[in-house]
Amino acid sequence: MIEKLIRERRSVRTYDDRLLSPDDLQKLQALIKTIVNPFGVDIIFKVLNAKEHGLSSPVLCGDTLYVGGKVTPCEHWNEAYGYAFEKLILAAQSLGLGTVWIGGTMNRSIFEKAMALETDEVMPCVTPVGYTAAKMSIREGLMRKAVKADWRMPFEELFFDGAWSAPLTAEKAGALAYPLEMVRLGPSAVNKQPWRAVVMDDAVHFHLKRNKDFAIGKSGDMQKIDAGIALCHFDLAAQEAGLNPQFQLSNPGLPLEDGTEYIASYKVTIA
Ligand SMILES: Cc1cc2nc3c(=O)[nH]c(=O)nc-3n(C[C@H](O)[C@H](O)[C@H](O)COP(=O)(O)O)c2cc1C
Repeated sequence: MIEKLIRERRSVRTYDDRLLSPDDLQKLQALIKTIVNPFGVDIIFKVLNAKEHGLSSPVLCGDTLYVGGKVTPCEHWNEAYGYAFEKLILAAQSLGLGTVWIGGTMNRSIFEKAMALETDEVMPCVTPVGYTAAKMSIREGLMRKAVKADWRMPFEELFFDGAWSAPLTAEKAGALAYPLEMVRLGPSAVNKQPWRAVVMDDAVHFHLKRNKDFAIGKSGDMQKIDAGIALCHFDLAAQEAGLNPQFQLSNPGLPLEDGTEYIASYKVTIA
């Protein structure tokens, strides 16, 4: 099920103008209530009617509804946000609804007002939620080409066997090949795929390899948010595969190049 959701999800930027049916809206709201993250950070989601709040994005057409997420910055808030917001994206996908992470292409102040942002809160991202239009807009097609949206880095450039100098192939990864492949397929800001992971004994240690083009804004560190997406995909896929993933902050202390940092780990049980 998780594999299907992850493989079928794509950024949807052309919607068919319809508001969600009351049934779909109620199901989405029920799923949102179940969303937690392993860091225990409180993320508040709000469903927003686009017309009522004057919300739009220059990359979207036919959008009628948004979900925004806000958080009070604290330790690990970006990773927690990425994990939780990706759960929202996959929940919408499970209902057959289209979404796209929006962290840049929006008028922030209008969205922040609609989210009733308190002075100590930030709203890193929003997503439209709706019914995917039968045909992609020309602009959407061009955007996908510009970021090579269907491309992902090869497995062995993202995952390592005990050391950065030892690329891990899917064949060598054994039972971990599936959850790591689910990480590989995840969405990321400008499709930069900054996640890296090193497998050591029974643990997978996730790291972030920053791309220098990204500024870290006060509304969020988009690449750390990407790292949270990687954790989410790994956790859900490893759970489904019966690997009993256990979240841990246990930095293995590997040598780190400039711009690379430790994020978090999962301990797994391989029968
Ligand atoms: C944290 C984050 C922020 C993003 N912000 C935007 C955005 O502001 N505008 C946009 O059009 N797409 C945005 N995206 C979507 C990415 O461009 C997209 O996920 C990536 O190109 C891969 O394409 P796919 O989602 O279709 O697999 C964002 C994605 C992430 C994860």
